[in-house]
Amino acid sequence: MGKKLLVIGQGGREHALVWKLAQSPEVEKIYAAPGNPGIAQLAECVNIEVHELDKLRKFAADQAIDLTVVGPEAPLMDGIVDRFKKAGLKIFGPCAAAAQLEGSKVFAKQLLAKYKIPTAAFEVCEDIEKAYKAARTYTDQGLPVVVKADGLAAGKGVVVASGWEEARQAIDDMMRDRTFGEAGARIVVEECLQGEELSVFALCDGKHYIILMSAQDHKRVFDNDEGPNTGGMGAYVNPPLFTPELRTRIETEIIRPIVDAMAAEGNPYQGVLYAGLMITTEGPKVLEFNARFGDPETQVLMPMIGGDLLPILECAAEGCLQDSKLEILDGGCVGVVLASGGYPGSYAKGKVITGLDKVDKGTVIFHAGTSLKQGELLTNGGRVLAVVCRGADTREAVENVYHQVAKINFEGMHYRRDIGRRAL
Ligand code: GLY
Repeated sequence: MGKKLLVIGQGGREHALVWKLAQSPEVEKIYAAPGNPGIAQLAECVNIEVHELDKLRKFAADQAIDLTVVGPEAPLMDGIVDRFKKAGLKIFGPCAAAAQLEGSKVFAKQLLAKYKIPTAAFEVCEDIEKAYKAARTYTDQGLPVVVKADGLAAGKGVVVASGWEEARQAIDDMMRDRTFGEAGARIVVEECLQGEELSVFALCDGKHYIILMSAQDHKRVFDNDEGPNTGGMGAYVNPPLFTPELRTRIETEIIRPIVDAMAAEGNPYQGVLYAGLMITTEGPKVLEFNARFGDPETQVLMPMIGGDLLPILECAAEGCLQDSKLEILDGGCVGVVLASGGYPGSYAKGKVITGLDKVDKGTVIFHAGTSLKQGELLTNGGRVLAVVCRGADTREAVENVYHQVAKINFEGMHYRRDIGRRAL
């Protein structure tokens, strides 16, 4: 009998995970909760939301699910892994205490400092006066400063302030006005690192790890990194900056020490470690960690994995990754997000999507914000689809992907035209 899997989430990231796992010869059936119309082509979608932890656990027990894979961060912070494990259910992801690496900036920074893992100089501030003073030590010298809410703030909790007025505004928003609720009860004020940003993904089993790849997203809505931040307008794998030498430094100076530190603290880290790094003239330094796969980075990571991902995720959940081998394909992979008109501001839904039947074989379309009504595929979110293509290198992948993007349309559709070009 084949295995039954449950993937939790409903975005493009989860579609990419389902797409990859569905290729495993060991898989009999995949369920997704709640899933989306793209996922529904590969899995049975069940009407349980990601925050309904007890319902999810009961579903996994009733269906005798062999492995549950968690996409978004919120259920991880809320302890879904702890609950599943207590019930004897196998699940891929960190327990709540370990997920603090993403859920609490204070936790992450203090751990980094304790284990001397390179990161920006910082101060933890519990009161507003201390935060003002910490920020002024930078802005009085004409330096920018970074203000971070301790807790999760829907991707808006990090402000890079170019001067005092901006820094004060960010501190007031977080600490005085509690724009992000209790997430802003404590903040981190830190040095603004200079260099190039790089994200690296590793699978961890509490003791061992496998470094997957580097993937870069494009956060701003418009070309040349202009306009407001979004959830991510596209991504590509293995930027040229990620040389074998840098990879070795990142492994020895950051990934291995953090996995060891978490184990030493009694919080062994299992799941995906998504390390957001700044590559400075002194070497790689940690900007932040996420406790999950990135979105849209997963949409370009999954097509680059050659072999079967399922046994590797199972080993990560069981603590036996030292015996696992992961095949990474050669070449480049680029994903372009097609967004609704107005996104990341307000946008209309229900626009008819056309052209998906025209894309070439080898192109993968991941759904993020779609709905199906009377057989018609409609837009149902800000980020609607990701169009993903591989190529012999990033240049070819870029050419391929934009050739396919041109075939797809919906009213108001917009996308960046420079995804991956930073790597060329
Ligand atoms: N692409 C950024 C993130 O997933 O947090």
